[in-house]
Amino acid sequence: MHPTFAPFPATRLRRTRRSAPLRDLCQENVLTVKDLIWPIFIREGQDVAEPIASMPGVFRLSIDKAVRAAEEAASLGIPAICLFPYTDISLKTEGCEEACNPENLTNRAIRAIKAEVPGIAIMTDIALDPYNINGHDGFVRDGIILNDETVEALVKMAMAQADAGADILGPSDMMDGRIGAMRAALEAAGHTDVAILSYSAKYASAFYGPFRDAVGASGLLTGDKKTYQMNPGNADEALRLVARDLSEGADMVMIKPGMPYLDICRRVKDSFGVPTYAYQVSGEYAMIRGAADRGWIDGDRAMLESLLAFKRAGCDGILTYFAPAVARMLAPAA
Ligand code: PBG
Repeated sequence: MHPTFAPFPATRLRRTRRSAPLRDLCQENVLTVKDLIWPIFIREGQDVAEPIASMPGVFRLSIDKAVRAAEEAASLGIPAICLFPYTDISLKTEGCEEACNPENLTNRAIRAIKAEVPGIAIMTDIALDPYNINGHDGFVRDGIILNDETVEALVKMAMAQADAGADILGPSDMMDGRIGAMRAALEAAGHTDVAILSYSAKYASAFYGPFRDAVGASGLLTGDKKTYQMNPGNADEALRLVARDLSEGADMVMIKPGMPYLDICRRVKDSFGVPTYAYQVSGEYAMIRGAADRGWIDGDRAMLESLLAFKRAGCDGILTYFAPAVARMLAPAA
């Protein structure tokens, strides 16, 4: 028995649960607005907020609307947003040229948001899938995902985003060697303060379904992503991936998806003690929202409980589509 544990009735663990003040005083982990990164989908156009069927309450925003969203996020105290582009099919190619275009949708959005909302950090996504005609995160030749050629393109993509003003680069592609290659290129170009939040432990998951819908990649994907994303049966491998990415210069690391992988969050935090994030992905959002919209669960409570779980598992922050809703709930009553 634990040395400080006196037997019943000297110890009654319900004493610290009997009233709200006692529960507050004894609460070990808290969720705050400063823990949130808000992923935002962007698209072409003006004054457009297009609903996404599989993600009720989430929209694809034209750049002007994304600027307003960033303003709202900043006013709520959310530290960062993360941009994901919905790319028109006409711009998707096997060579993924649009990914590195300094004037692509993402890079124009970064500049627009930086100009009008300088106080919020902008995170980006680095992977070829929004621009790839076959929906993969890397180049494909004869059905094989090419690692090294993809890394070269990802570095160019990263540099264009850094040039546009991105604060945090988020490589989500799971190719080998990309962190070191990006870090070297950033240093050489004088982008010494641009941070890398590596999607280090990203699993080949069924929970990305609604996201692929949101970025227009659903119908296009040939095969699956299992040769680069992780096997859901593995945990030790996640630690090797995190160690590898840190050794190549990652500043922050991510586990993705979130809730099915809380054990990985805890092990990563305990093993490395570095800034650790979880991505509460589109399918997790859809499950909670879908059940809440049908009256099957209390949506607000489920949202807060799911996010607090990440804090308890050791995460420093969470990417979540619930960010603005949570921030409004956590805001002190005016
Ligand atoms: C792709 C990418 C994905 C997500 C973020 N970046 C999907 C995938 O790997 O197929 C998923 C995010 C979500 O589901 O919310 N590079």
